[in-house]
Amino acid sequence: MISVAIDGPVGAGKSTVARESAKRLGFIYADTGALYRGVALYTVRKGLNESDADYKEKAAALLPEIKIEPRLIDGEQKLFLCGEDVSEEIRLPEISMAASTVSSIPEVRGFLLELQRDIARKNNVLMDGRDIGTVVLPSAQVKIFITASPEIRAKRRFQELVKKDVETTFEQVLGDLNRRDYQDSHRAVAPLKMAEDAVLLDTSELDFEQSVQRVIELVHTKIDKK
Ligand code: DC
Repeated sequence: MISVAIDGPVGAGKSTVARESAKRLGFIYADTGALYRGVALYTVRKGLNESDADYKEKAAALLPEIKIEPRLIDGEQKLFLCGEDVSEEIRLPEISMAASTVSSIPEVRGFLLELQRDIARKNNVLMDGRDIGTVVLPSAQVKIFITASPEIRAKRRFQELVKKDVETTFEQVLGDLNRRDYQDSHRAVAPLKMAEDAVLLDTSELDFEQSVQRVIELVHTKIDKK
C-alpha cells in the first residue's frame, strides 16, 4: 500500500488540495481532522465547554461512549458519530476550536490512532492532518508539509465560511486561526510539526491547480524512484 502524509496548519489548503490530488491519483482521501471534530462535537453535545477548567478530564471520560466512523460514500469521506451523519455539523467554527482543544488530550489521540492506521493498512491513501508524517504514519512513502502565510490562510478560510453562510468576520477567522495554530503546535503530545523527511510546499503564491499539480508531481517523483 502507498501512503502519502499531508500535514500543515489550519487553512493551508490541505483538505481541498489533498482531496483533489487523491482523486486524480486514484487513492482514497482520509481527513483526520474530521475525527477530532467528531469527538469535539460529542463533548459539546454533552454540555461540556472547552473553556472549562475540567474540560479535558471530562472529555477523556466520555471516550468509551463515543463511536467515530469515517465512511466512504461515493468516494467522499463522511463522518458518522454513534451512527449519525455529522459531516456538516463538525465544520462549524465553534467545533473547530473545541477540536483543537480535544486534540491536545493524550487519551483522545490514542483513541483515534489505530483507526487512522487501519485506513492506511487497507488502502492507498492520501491522509491529511497535523501528525501524520511524524506519528500516525512515520513510514509513509511520501510526506508533504503544506503551509501558507497566516493572512492568506485566513482569507481562504473566511471565503469558505462565507460560502457556507456562516456568520463571521475576517478578523475573527484570523484570530481563531492564530489561536488554533498556537495550540496545535504547542501541545505536549504529537504537536504540529514538519517531519524531517517531509517536503515543504508553500502555497501562498500558488493557486489551487498549481498546488494539486505540485502534490501529484511529488508523489510520482517519490514513488517512481522506489
Ligand atoms: O484539520 P482540521 O482543522 O479539521 O482539524 C481540527 C483540529 O484537529 C485541529 O485544530 C487540530 C486537530 N488535529 C490533530 O491534532 N491531528 C490531526 N491529525 C488532525 C487534526
